[in-house]
Amino acid sequence: MTTANTAAADVDVPEIGATSDAGSRPLDDDFRTVGNVRVGDPRMTCSDVNVYYGDKHAIKHVDLDIAENEVIAMIGPSGCGKSTFLRCLNRMNDTIEICRVTGEIKLDDQDIYDKRLDVVPLRAQVGMVFQKPNPFPKSIYDNIAYGPRIHGLATGRADLDEVVERSLTKAGLWEEVKDRLDQPGTGLSGGQQQRLCIARTIAVEPEVILMDEPCSALDPIATAKVEELIDELRENYTIAIVTHSMQQAARVSQRTAYFHLGHLVEVGETTQIFTNPSHKLTEDYITGRFG
Ligand SMILES: Nc1ncnc2c1ncn2[C@@H]1O[C@H](COP(=O)(O)OP(=O)(O)O)[C@@H](O)[C@H]1O
Ligand SMILES: [Mg+2]
Repeated sequence: MTTANTAAADVDVPEIGATSDAGSRPLDDDFRTVGNVRVGDPRMTCSDVNVYYGDKHAIKHVDLDIAENEVIAMIGPSGCGKSTFLRCLNRMNDTIEICRVTGEIKLDDQDIYDKRLDVVPLRAQVGMVFQKPNPFPKSIYDNIAYGPRIHGLATGRADLDEVVERSLTKAGLWEEVKDRLDQPGTGLSGGQQQRLCIARTIAVEPEVILMDEPCSALDPIATAKVEELIDELRENYTIAIVTHSMQQAARVSQRTAYFHLGHLVEVGETTQIFTNPSHKLTEDYITGRFG
């Protein structure tokens, strides 16, 4: 009798309530996040985050940690909420009148949605680089010096000179611009402008850098340079990058989060997500069946 039962189990006869591989695999309409949303060394911790634009529920019950010194990529079809979620991380959504955010987001132990919190220093701690490079209509030097000046991080000329050189060096731009620091930042090539914007973000000593499709306006060579830079910056910063390029996500990130219709569908090691996704929706997206 025992033997017969074992044999039956071996041929995988489904029982009521049993979980087989096929049975445990989430279906298309099952949006519970697959994978570990929590990490051992979180820099940011998001719990039950929801975002609404008026009546539209754009981000739905997202839990996610962002680990120290990691690059986490956010991918998913256009309109799935990648930018909206990224903007939650430094309260950039506050600037959109109809936008409402609920849930909890912490930077270390600080609740960043605490009403008493000043968003100006928050946005220096959690800096942002946008899709289209947006240097200020100022000199290369002043693009970098502006932030440290207003945040009181550097005051005298010598201090500022040092911050400017250090930030441009870290952004891989110093050698290209050191002889023309007084020229307008807008005169640089697209790729240089984006690295200038990254240098400007670094200049105010952020802990986390958010990037929303930072290479989508760049040619392949400029893109490669920015990707190389992202990899170097990981040593000192935590980076969350939204990208529509799966190749880019695979090249630059250690963890990947897949969003779909406002849900965080799956999160995991980047290699696992791209070689062995657990959720059918992730698989459909990365194999090009959707998106
Ligand atoms: N400022 C806004 N006002 C109203 N709806 C918005 C706004 N920004 C985004 N949305 C909506 O929220 C959803 C998510 O958008 P978004 O975060 O931009 O997606 P993604 O970056 O993944 O393309 C979309 O349905 C979009 O139309
Ligand atoms: Mg977007």
